[in-house]
Amino acid sequence: MIFNFGSINVDHVYRVAEMPLPGETLTAGSYQKLLGGKGINQSIAIARAGQVPVHIGAVGSDDGWTMEQVKSFGIDTAMIARSTHPTGHAVIYVDDAGENQIVIFGGANRDLKPAQIEKAFETCTGADHWVLVQNETNLLADIVDQAKSAGFKVAYSAAPFVAGTVAQVIDKIDLLAVNEIEAQETARLLGVAVSGIAVPELLITRGSKGVEFHSHGDVHHHPAFQVETVDTTGAGDTFLGSFLAHHCHGIELTQSLRYASAASALQVTRPGAAVAIPAREEVEIFLKQRET
Ligand code: RIB
Repeated sequence: MIFNFGSINVDHVYRVAEMPLPGETLTAGSYQKLLGGKGINQSIAIARAGQVPVHIGAVGSDDGWTMEQVKSFGIDTAMIARSTHPTGHAVIYVDDAGENQIVIFGGANRDLKPAQIEKAFETCTGADHWVLVQNETNLLADIVDQAKSAGFKVAYSAAPFVAGTVAQVIDKIDLLAVNEIEAQETARLLGVAVSGIAVPELLITRGSKGVEFHSHGDVHHHPAFQVETVDTTGAGDTFLGSFLAHHCHGIELTQSLRYASAASALQVTRPGAAVAIPAREEVEIFLKQRET
């Protein structure tokens, strides 16, 4: 089972022809308010792949909209707390090439309480369990410490990249998930080459160039499926959640990477982060089509 201590955001998404330059004012072509946040995107990807993750996080006390959305995806939400801070949000620009720029406001995501974490670990017991964390919540080092003491494996999505936090937890991580830029930043921080990042498992997503999975000295590559990109927001989250839904449940590596590549390929053909994550049936149809 996967216990995801993760962010929940409201994404305010503005479509723009190109990214604004410093000091420039642009008119957006469209605006949408959508569910997002790296944490919940990853939980949704796990759920859409057929597993039931337990999501531990927080939303604002007046929030109705986000929780309704989250519950509709079949995630265990019993440990999502109500905070006196507003629900976290992101302002996202997506340009005509589908690339994005994101500014996040932490809000309730940065108001996880030590008691909430302790209670979660009292409830989450058993063998072969994984804890998943990203850099959008507070108390990350405590969560990782408690996860290791409780015998969990820890998957860490080091995004957005925060050097101090990465340095604090890297020695306790079982699986580090990064994009190309985060891989370079991690390597620089540790004073090694990317291939020298010493974690048991390292997943590097490289967008349309595919992924690299380093495991105990072996390197596996998986190409990306080529598709028409509409919006890349949440593609890395989709890949990671889809991959973990297989890898953490003992599915063979190539199959796990193939499923995750297909899920994230489909996800970028649609607008939005969470709402664009495909269901298992859609991924299976896509994979069959790509076999021929
Ligand atoms: O990874 C994409 C996500 O980053 C968005 O959904 C946004 O909320 C930010 O957390």
